[in-house]
Amino acid sequence: MTTLFKNIKELIQVRTEVTAFVSGKDMNKLPTIKNAFLVVEDGLIANFGNMENCPKQPFSKVIDASGKMMLPSWCDSHTHLVYAGNREREFVDKIKGLSYQDIANKGGGILNSAKTLQETSENDLYIQSKARLEEVMALGTGAIEIKSGYGLTVASELKMLRVIKRLKENYPISIKATFLGAHVVPSEYRNNKEDYIKLLIEDLMPKIAKDQLADFVDVFCETGYFSVEDTERILQAGKDYGLVPKIHVNQFNSIGGIQAGVKYNALSVDHLEEMKDEDIESLKSTKTMPVALPGCSFFLGIPYTPARKMIDAGLPLALATDYNPGSSPSGNMNFVVSSACIKMKLTPEEAINAATINGAYAMGMQNEVGSIAKGKQANLILTKPINSYSFIPYSFGANQIEKVYLKGKEIK
Ligand code: NIG
Ligand code: FE
Repeated sequence: MTTLFKNIKELIQVRTEVTAFVSGKDMNKLPTIKNAFLVVEDGLIANFGNMENCPKQPFSKVIDASGKMMLPSWCDSHTHLVYAGNREREFVDKIKGLSYQDIANKGGGILNSAKTLQETSENDLYIQSKARLEEVMALGTGAIEIKSGYGLTVASELKMLRVIKRLKENYPISIKATFLGAHVVPSEYRNNKEDYIKLLIEDLMPKIAKDQLADFVDVFCETGYFSVEDTERILQAGKDYGLVPKIHVNQFNSIGGIQAGVKYNALSVDHLEEMKDEDIESLKSTKTMPVALPGCSFFLGIPYTPARKMIDAGLPLALATDYNPGSSPSGNMNFVVSSACIKMKLTPEEAINAATINGAYAMGMQNEVGSIAKGKQANLILTKPINSYSFIPYSFGANQIEKVYLKGKEIK
């Protein structure tokens, strides 16, 4: 099966040299080809270039993309898309003045979602989660990371991870799974965090490794959640079981978690709303990708990640949604790209790089997705007729997507 897209007004994020991620000034460079063609063969990008060199052989399908732009699908490297129920009641509490931490201290927050999830059957959890996955696929996301962390018991953490596995088996979107048992200390362990950490390391991790239920291990490293010392222990144990570290860090306080992430070769450090100069410094010349989650800042009214300062200091940056019921109940990458431009002062080029090639790296998927390159998955966004790619972030709250293709197939 071969498909030719012809007369593409502009083909965006074209990479002919192997590029794992872009950082600093290079983030402002977004290579494109105007008046382009692209050939898909067996779900992969087989060829692309200027229309002058468009191949003439017969194709199974030819799509005329006149007036439209094409870019690689969004890569959303941080979500909690598998969850049960919602938290609209806390939303109203928040409107009335309670902070995220006030709500958590009242027994709401993550513990509230964990209680609902524990009472939800595996099949019901799957049905609720697949609706969200279908929603984000239609919004242009072609690769996604999904975390556990609302189970907080052996049975429910495994239930979440099995649901992620089932989504992976049933949908064309590429999915990576993260074990986030260290999301919050459950109430039963409030005075005995040590036993909970032992349960994660000694009971859950061997089961997860045996059934290959996760790719990554994550910890919410934050005052009142897990300390830097706890984080280091959990990351090391995860590594021993073949899980690559990631961290939720510097959301409310800068307590040294970024340095722990770098020390344990974390693939990414995520949130980063509170950044000291030494935090920025310690990420320089590392392989750890900083990830900003502007949807969370928008929803909670907390500071935005100082992305401008970080990129100007030479760092790379990825953007993700953090799709979850408490701090970012939206999986819309189009909105994330807009808010990065509007609130964090990224240029459209920087934001698109952060949401594609750098997002792919933050999931260890830089060889499969995130750019238009030969041999990569044909995960493609075809826009409506638009004048320039800057219109994508400019038209915030809308999306300019006409069609989405995953592994070469149109998503209905
Ligand atoms: O990434 N900060 C920790 N975890 C999630 C929120 C979880 C929740 O509130 O349900 C986050 O923001
Ligand atoms: Fe998160």
